Amino acid sequence: MTDLSMAKKSGTAAFDVEAIRRDFPILDQQINGKPLVYLDNGASSQKPIAVLDAMDRYYREMHSNVHRGAHTLGDRATSAFEGAREKVRAFLNADSTREIIWTRGTTEAINVVANGLAGRLKPGDEILVSHMEHHANIVPWQMVAERTGAKVVPIQITPQGELDPDSFNSLLGDRTRVLALTHVSNVLGTVNPIAPLIEQAKAHGVITVIDGAQAVPHFQPDVQALGCDFYVFSSHKLFGPTGVGVLYGKAQLLEEMPPFQGGGEMIERVSFERTTWNVLPYKFEAGTPPVAEAIGLGAAIDYLGNLDRNGMEASENALLTRANELVESVPGMEIIGTASQKVPVMSFKIAGLHPSDIGTLLDQQGIAIRTGHHCAMPLMDFYGVPGTARASFAFYNTLEEVEQLFTALQKIQRLFA
Ligand SMILES: Cc1ncc(COP(=O)(O)O)c(C=O)c1O
Repeated sequence: MTDLSMAKKSGTAAFDVEAIRRDFPILDQQINGKPLVYLDNGASSQKPIAVLDAMDRYYREMHSNVHRGAHTLGDRATSAFEGAREKVRAFLNADSTREIIWTRGTTEAINVVANGLAGRLKPGDEILVSHMEHHANIVPWQMVAERTGAKVVPIQITPQGELDPDSFNSLLGDRTRVLALTHVSNVLGTVNPIAPLIEQAKAHGVITVIDGAQAVPHFQPDVQALGCDFYVFSSHKLFGPTGVGVLYGKAQLLEEMPPFQGGGEMIERVSFERTTWNVLPYKFEAGTPPVAEAIGLGAAIDYLGNLDRNGMEASENALLTRANELVESVPGMEIIGTASQKVPVMSFKIAGLHPSDIGTLLDQQGIAIRTGHHCAMPLMDFYGVPGTARASFAFYNTLEEVEQLFTALQKIQRLFA
């Protein structure tokens, strides 16, 4: 087989990164006199024109509040907004749009769930999280544990940055009520084998909550195949706008949970004697929702749906492979997180250099990465570092950009380490 036919078979030939980059106008600019190399996608990814246009069209042609208009604009806005919910449902393969709740993002979604499950928790109960969680999947559970007397217990990880199966097996038990686990680590890039863990947890009657914030930009989860009870993510990491996110929850559990906030939209009937709740999903959507943002997220999902997903995955894997090959070219560079299953996220340190200096010096060369604790302080403690530098790639990044990153790191190491 020729190289080209092999490439076609794997889908890489069909995945034209240069053409895709033209859909992202922000990428075409100079920063500090150099072409922008945007490698901070784990923090927030860039938006294609299709998303910008969808939101612009909404404001120009149909802006109005949703669900209450006795007029045409209200109907148009409602139908675009509810259409976006259906797109999210299809993206996750949820059973019904009743199970798709708009939130402000992953953080708020986890808070909704933690608050909603508080009534089921009592002293001595345990909430399993992992040592690689983002603070968004630790702190809400600590807050609810404080209220209920339950305990947050971390599953240990291996030095490579994988969940330790022995730790998981020994901790999952009669006291476990909730398993709150990240699908993909924002620091390590580890893809956790959540399907068998969910299955094991369910066999113990444990409620499963999956933080999909770093998973959805790289692959499409199927919540019914996974069998999880809750799955959450943020639009802004999925090439959609800020200010909106998604809580998927099994309808029965959502029915049983109390609402998170009170106000308009989430009620059925209000009187001073007794107020009753609206049906799903509105019971969890108090106040005017993020209409333009939800529509923008719907457009991002449509955009992704038109990409060759196999080609995208192959292209992202090629970025990570090239980055791993180049590590040796920078003396003193060490990767943190070497799991066998990873998305293209590379946390690293360089001997003699502080991560924040690496970030500043790269920025001077037009290269955007993230440095610091990445909202994962327990993980930083595990590795005994105050922070790391992190390059996180998206499907619109190129092999040339990976090489530019390493050329810049070599220069920095020579001059400053
Ligand atoms: C794994 C993970 N969970 C949760 C969050 C929080 O997301 P947001 O700030 O959009 O609520 C992030 C953001 O970096 C994340 O990476």
